[in-house]
Amino acid sequence: MNKATSGKILAKQVNKGIQNALETLSTFSQVHLLGLRKIHAIIKAVGSTLDMFIAQDYERESTKGTGFLGARYFLVNAPADIKRVLQEEATFPKHRVTAWIFKPLIGASTLSAEHGAKWRAQRNHVENVLREITPEVMLPRVYLAMNKAIKTLSIEAELGRVSASKIASELSWDVTCQFLFGISSDQIDISQDELQNFAKFEKSAAFAVVLYQTGISMGLLSFLFHRKAKAARELINRIILNLKDTETPSAFTVLKRLVGNKFQEEKENSNVLDQLTCLSLPAGESMTVTTTLLLYLLGKYPEYQHRLREEANKTIKLIGRKDLTQAQLKTLVFTNCFLNEALRLYPPIPVLYREPASNVQIGNVKCPFKSMIFVAPWVLHRHKSYWTKPLEFNPERFIGNRHKASDEGIANSIYIPFGLGQRRCPGESLAKLQLIIFLIEIVRHFEVITVDNIAPEVVGRISLKLKKPLFVKLRPIALGIT
Ligand code: HEM
Repeated sequence: MNKATSGKILAKQVNKGIQNALETLSTFSQVHLLGLRKIHAIIKAVGSTLDMFIAQDYERESTKGTGFLGARYFLVNAPADIKRVLQEEATFPKHRVTAWIFKPLIGASTLSAEHGAKWRAQRNHVENVLREITPEVMLPRVYLAMNKAIKTLSIEAELGRVSASKIASELSWDVTCQFLFGISSDQIDISQDELQNFAKFEKSAAFAVVLYQTGISMGLLSFLFHRKAKAARELINRIILNLKDTETPSAFTVLKRLVGNKFQEEKENSNVLDQLTCLSLPAGESMTVTTTLLLYLLGKYPEYQHRLREEANKTIKLIGRKDLTQAQLKTLVFTNCFLNEALRLYPPIPVLYREPASNVQIGNVKCPFKSMIFVAPWVLHRHKSYWTKPLEFNPERFIGNRHKASDEGIANSIYIPFGLGQRRCPGESLAKLQLIIFLIEIVRHFEVITVDNIAPEVVGRISLKLKKPLFVKLRPIALGIT
């Protein structure tokens, strides 16, 4: 074969490869891309699996398969299949790459195990620790962090617009420090740059997840992506070391529970660091994006904001003190619906990744061993078959479960902000407690006003991220009971 012929064959193959990749993208996103936009879309999809779905009109009810650069992906859409994939742990373990990318950050802790005995043991350990963080232990700390945040915000509010993203990340990390270490984040002087290390890790992890499936060598992937994890882990390590010279906190903390009375000798133990980093990543990142988006939604829907304020003030007046108990927080029906609806439209973990343990059939579709199975809360929560006017923000749809998916069986598997099955989020009640208190305290102290009326653009890393910082204005409100 002469050079010109082999060149033509090669060019044909490359062209075919590109066409395949483009087809994949357009079947997933159902957009017809032209010229440079095609290339841009490929780059975006590699950085964020969510971008594969973001333009979809969310109508499909069966599993959809596609390929991308030689890899096979399946998006599961039917309620019964979702239940099966998320509940049959042994048939559909967590995808090995998502477990692998976490390892340099969180070592041998829960998130980094695919499934089986090793994961079960870690999970039991985490659940036992979290069970001890009862509302009685946690509520005073959340109120403490919230009061501090309100004071800072009152000063910042005078200066004009405030960064919702910054408020959210500072508050989330303050609460995380309270429950992990029993101290305020001020005491350890965490900079915004250091907090960004978790987000940077997630960005590189999202690339690694997609590239792994294309057959790139693990060695190269480790070189490219694992080092990002070190900087994030270093923050938690620094906090543990900083605590060395201080007294062991007397009240319950996750740190104390993990090392018992041997705090001084064992706090550098890598298992303790693994567990603490494992809890700080989801706690910090999922909570930050949710808190930011809650501020956006409050500003965007002043009528709902007004209802939240009325509900909070009425309850507090009735009870005569502002620090409500967990049972009292649950009686705030509209506030809980507002939070549920925010988590529906913006699920902080937009895509869950699973892998068939062998060749397996889902509905009519054959999913081969080593393919990747997506269950995407983002897609399910916006699906036309399961929700009335899915793209509308309407907290009322949750009052008495009045959304279209009224059959509990369906609702249980299509509304899954905290996942489903054995790997369901162990931090759910802690997260909800914090977010409800955040909503109450913000609307009682401030009127939240949007700065510009543009919907926030999001990108799916491991958790949902905002492409640009989000700003709001806060107008202080005179209070009765403080
Ligand atoms: C709005 C806040 C949060 C949301 C929406 C959320 C959502 C989720 C979801 C969907 C999963 C399951 C992932 C999968 O199945 O692949 C998960 C797992 C997990 N979450 Fe959360 N989470 C939140 C807050 C928290 C908090 C505050 C903590 C810590 C106290 C936490 C700790 C964890 C851990 C350790 C896992 C891994 C469980 C395992 O793999 O067995 N999360 N989270």
